[in-house]
Amino acid sequence: MDDNHWQIVNPGGSMRVIVTKELPGERWLEILTSAGCRVEICTSKAVLLAGQIRAAIGTSCDGAIGQLTEPWGEELFAALKGAGARAYSNYAVGFNNIDLAAATRHGIPVGNTPGVLTETTAEMAVALTFAAARRVGESERFLRAGKYDGWLPTLFLGELLWRKTVGIVGAGRIGAAYARMMVEGHKMNVIYYDINQNRILEDFVADYAKFLSEQEEPPVACRRAETIEELVEAADVVSLHTVLDDTTHHMMNAERLALMKKTAVLVNTSRGPVVDEAALVQHCRRNPEFRAGLDVFEEEPALAPGLTELENVVIVPHIASATSWTRQGMAVLAASNVAGILMGFPVWGRPDILSFLSAEPPKAAPSILNAEELGLSTYSG
Ligand code: DGY
Repeated sequence: MDDNHWQIVNPGGSMRVIVTKELPGERWLEILTSAGCRVEICTSKAVLLAGQIRAAIGTSCDGAIGQLTEPWGEELFAALKGAGARAYSNYAVGFNNIDLAAATRHGIPVGNTPGVLTETTAEMAVALTFAAARRVGESERFLRAGKYDGWLPTLFLGELLWRKTVGIVGAGRIGAAYARMMVEGHKMNVIYYDINQNRILEDFVADYAKFLSEQEEPPVACRRAETIEELVEAADVVSLHTVLDDTTHHMMNAERLALMKKTAVLVNTSRGPVVDEAALVQHCRRNPEFRAGLDVFEEEPALAPGLTELENVVIVPHIASATSWTRQGMAVLAASNVAGILMGFPVWGRPDILSFLSAEPPKAAPSILNAEELGLSTYSG
């Protein structure tokens, strides 16, 4: 291991945990060190390759916290197992970089960090929606370039979203939070596509519609689409909140983009490969009134050729969860996953995960994805 790029905290700790990137806040480190861990943190900003992580795992390692940019598959879980490790946590809620089956085969519990990204990511989806619809990037570039010669009735006309229809693909935690922001803030109707019905979202919109009617305002509505085609045809904004797997890869392809309204907005804060990025570039080129707001990209950090030249696309570098509160919360959850398993705690298995951010967190591992497959016990306290 290259010592120049690794910081060691609590060198006398009896269990060795490697952390492949520096994480924000202090609390996560306290959790690991008070569990008796020696923590080795990679201080380099470059994405570590599998071979470098394997070298860092070495011959004796009890646990690891890794990044969504790293390929945690057979090679690394075998290395962890071989080094005697008992726990891994992704520093992310998404886990498309993980081969969960391989981890389970090697008996390694895999944690993730749900619950603390919800509102933060939904807020970024809202920000991208309006930045795209109201041409914020394009008009700011115009202004900074010294091209503003004075107010004009026709300068940068965009789309009003008030009382239009927002389409949500994937109505889980983040998708539903975004939907609520668009309903409450902008009185939009909702159409959603999800393999599961989201009754809580439907009931929320129905209650809100009742409230609006009582105020003598037009109500709002929510319905579940049978197909993605139905959703993309109906929506003025389509926001993607699905996981990335074989069924969602290139879900937004040329055919579905062509079904969208000419003035629609596509927002992606999920995972880049959910959108066929080359097809999106073509579509935005041919349809200047169409707009996209993207936080994630198919081949991060590379962007599809032509994407940066498009005025009708707003792009940010995968920062939807980037608030201090969320990123510190993710660190606490990742550390609690690893420390919890190393201390022999059961798995939380409950939705109220924010209690792990409190001064007296439950004695449990907050979120272990393969808990059931590994037969881990569930918290009952
Ligand atoms: C996640 O946690 O999956 C996010 O993409 C990080 O921003």
